[in-house]
Amino acid sequence: MEQIQVSNLKKSYQNQKMTYDVLKGIDFSVQDGEFVSICGPSGSGKTTLLYVLGGLEPYTGGSVKLFNQELKDYTESAKSKMRSQDIGFVFQFYNLIPNLTVYENILLSAILSTGKTKDKIMETLETVGMKDYSSYYPYQLSGGMQQRVAIARCLINDPKIIFADEPIGSLDHKNGIAIMELFRNLNQTYHKTILMVTHNEDTTVYGTRTLHMLDGKVIKDEQNT
Ligand SMILES: Nc1ncnc2c1ncn2[C@@H]1O[C@H](COP(=O)(O)OP(=O)(O)OP(=O)(O)O)[C@@H](O)[C@H]1O
Ligand SMILES: [Mg+2]
Repeated sequence: MEQIQVSNLKKSYQNQKMTYDVLKGIDFSVQDGEFVSICGPSGSGKTTLLYVLGGLEPYTGGSVKLFNQELKDYTESAKSKMRSQDIGFVFQFYNLIPNLTVYENILLSAILSTGKTKDKIMETLETVGMKDYSSYYPYQLSGGMQQRVAIARCLINDPKIIFADEPIGSLDHKNGIAIMELFRNLNQTYHKTILMVTHNEDTTVYGTRTLHMLDGKVIKDEQNT
């Protein structure tokens, strides 16, 4: 099933003096179960593309369909429901709330959307290898562990699609590999569709497909073998 369809997608920023075209006509679609790496140099538009697909940023031209519905046609409440239940985000900086424990950080996310129970929270922490740390505070955890908690927070509402922007950008090599293996497991075992922005060509091997961006366009779209 096609979960994302993008055609002739354009996005520009405007200030008083000029228009700046960031996405310059992008076409691709994503089937459920794909793990797509989006790579390209700094400023090529990777984050902008991810934010547009996730409904965090408006687009200025073309079409983006998520679950077969044009994003522009989502009402605010449908969009908010979609963002809390159907898709999840993981960022470079983990954005955990510092004065809440691991458990409470995830509980907050659950309360704000589906109201999942304690068992579900513990099960999700187990999936990311953090079950024994539920009462820790973020400052007591390494960067890799904090990113696992951020991934658990994204998983708690059982999203169909995970959008990740440079999720290992702040981690050392070893922790980065462990997080990439976790994403691969989420894709292969839990059948999550993943769109992941990365600077680093080496990490694209964890995905099933790679989109290469340059200057606001997709210049190469390849299946990984
Ligand atoms: N809010 C904004 N207003 C104006 N220009 C913006 C805005 N956000 C992004 N841009 C511009 O759009 C271009 C693409 O930015 P984007 O953040 O998508 O790049 P990126 O590929 O994610 O880069 P990086 O690898 O450095 O994160 C950049 O030139 C940036 O300056
Ligand atoms: Mg970026």
